[in-house]
Amino acid sequence: MRIQGLLSGETDLVARMAGMVSILHGAMPHFFWTGFYRVVGDELVIGPYQGTPGCSRIARGRGVCGTAWEQGAIQVVADVHAFPGHIACDPRSESEIVVPVRDCRGEVIAVLDVDSAEKAAFDETDQRWLEQILCF
Ligand code: SME
Repeated sequence: MRIQGLLSGETDLVARMAGMVSILHGAMPHFFWTGFYRVVGDELVIGPYQGTPGCSRIARGRGVCGTAWEQGAIQVVADVHAFPGHIACDPRSESEIVVPVRDCRGEVIAVLDVDSAEKAAFDETDQRWLEQILCF
């Protein structure tokens, strides 16, 4: 609801993303890194985000984010150390959820990446709610 209120009337994509990140990061105590990687050419480019500095660019198919983009599928990773090719931007990260963001034609335009310092911090409820709010 707060997200809907904040974003109503705002059409700029980055402004919408920044508002979502701000609300999510503040509202969810187990989110220690919350942010978007946007599809720019053949890479993902960071931002907007909140948390410690992240890797600025990720190639398609690399890490959890690049896999979510390549497969067009949400990734719920209970233990990042068990995910082949996981990119460790912050060593405190133990689990992660990455949700693809699509435009009206169904193309993936970004991914939302959320990290937790606890193992298995994300479940189907996080997945359902994050998918629901990610309508651009
Ligand atoms: N862990 C991610 C990289 C981004 S950071 O966590 C902010 C990955 O493997 O794609």
